[in-house]
Amino acid sequence: MSRQIEGSFLALTCKSRLGICRLLGQDGWWLFLCVSEHTEGSVDRPMLTLGIETSCDETSAAVVEGERRILSNIVASQFDLHRKYGGVVPELACRRHIEVISQTVETALDEAGVTTDDVGLISVVKGPGLIGALLIGVAFGKSLARSLGTRIIGVNHVEAHLYSAVMSNERIPFPAVGLVVSGGHTMLFLMEDFGKYRWLGGTVDDAVGEAGDKVATLLGLPYLGGPLVEKLALKGNPRAITFPRAMIRRTNYDFSYAGLKTAVLYHVKGYGGSRRDGDTVADAERADIAASYQAAAFEPLVKKTLWAAEELAAQSAVVCGGVSRNRTLREMFAAAASKRGIPVFFPADELCTDNAAMVAGLGAWRAARFPDEVTSDFDAFPNFETFPSLEGFRDPRAKRKEKQR
Ligand code: KG4
Ligand code: ZN
Repeated sequence: MSRQIEGSFLALTCKSRLGICRLLGQDGWWLFLCVSEHTEGSVDRPMLTLGIETSCDETSAAVVEGERRILSNIVASQFDLHRKYGGVVPELACRRHIEVISQTVETALDEAGVTTDDVGLISVVKGPGLIGALLIGVAFGKSLARSLGTRIIGVNHVEAHLYSAVMSNERIPFPAVGLVVSGGHTMLFLMEDFGKYRWLGGTVDDAVGEAGDKVATLLGLPYLGGPLVEKLALKGNPRAITFPRAMIRRTNYDFSYAGLKTAVLYHVKGYGGSRRDGDTVADAERADIAASYQAAAFEPLVKKTLWAAEELAAQSAVVCGGVSRNRTLREMFAAAASKRGIPVFFPADELCTDNAAMVAGLGAWRAARFPDEVTSDFDAFPNFETFPSLEGFRDPRAKRKEKQR
């Protein structure tokens, strides 16, 4: 690997099994030039899809056979990089994606025991997410597809989360309601079938995963806080403190987490000033705060998802995204859903948080049904524009943005 820096210009050439990937950067713009001897994928073997995910702070590559058999799923976490800032720093995330993407793809191919010759399709996330981060995955994927002569498809990250449940469960009965709960999203859909969506609602402010991470910081827990709040909450009493259940009424399917975050802030710090810091609160009380926060955060998710399932005569509910890994949330869903006779499906643990296996699987699924989508003629989008065939979408944050103007 050679590195050459001239003023603000940086060129990085790496000779690898992917061919020769040359990364050119100037003033924040990056271009991948991939020159390879490979021109075609194999057509005689079951189709293999190479998935690429760079929408936020995980660089991930995976190889999936057909639509669901995972041969490899490599996630290069940036946890160490962002920990000291207490959140994702977009500029740093982009730089790290650039440094590791080539190696991550190679490792995914190696672990699957295949080469680029075996790959019939490249599937890459085009949005939503951090635009700089998305552009790196999209530019890398397109360059690789071009140099190999391989087909490429751009897919939506949120739809990939929904697909992660399909990959993990043989038979999900449709219509189903689909809840996506992650660090960036809290959204509820009706899926007439997989691939056919009606928007039901979403958060009007913060995502539930983000709220959990902020509550962790308030309690003096390190980044990434959601799973640590879960662990602490196991020792606490969820009824100890009555935090508000925002937007719990049955009038719509929207959610809100900003108020709950503030309620926890006031509870920890006290009204009118900095009474104390989270790490000075006694352990037993911190556990009660964590457990009570989770109860308040999860109750609206469970209630609204199951109300939607009942009202819209759905046959099942699907819950996915990073927060769906939480055992307390799963237990709350299981308890409430079994009373109503609605089966609830979750992804396998390793498919809950961001990963490229769900991206590869979804790409293969869509390519088989919507061949027009197999094209390199797509762009990266930070917002929700890239969600396919979505009826009735209205931006739940739009009203708030309007008020702020
Ligand atoms: O799906 P994901 O990897 O990224 C986004 O698309 O945003 O979700 C990451 C989020 C973080 O907020 C993280 O704290 C949360 O999922 N998370 C959890 C758990 N595992 C991950 N939250 C609560 N309990 C968990 N066990
Ligand atoms: Zn995600």
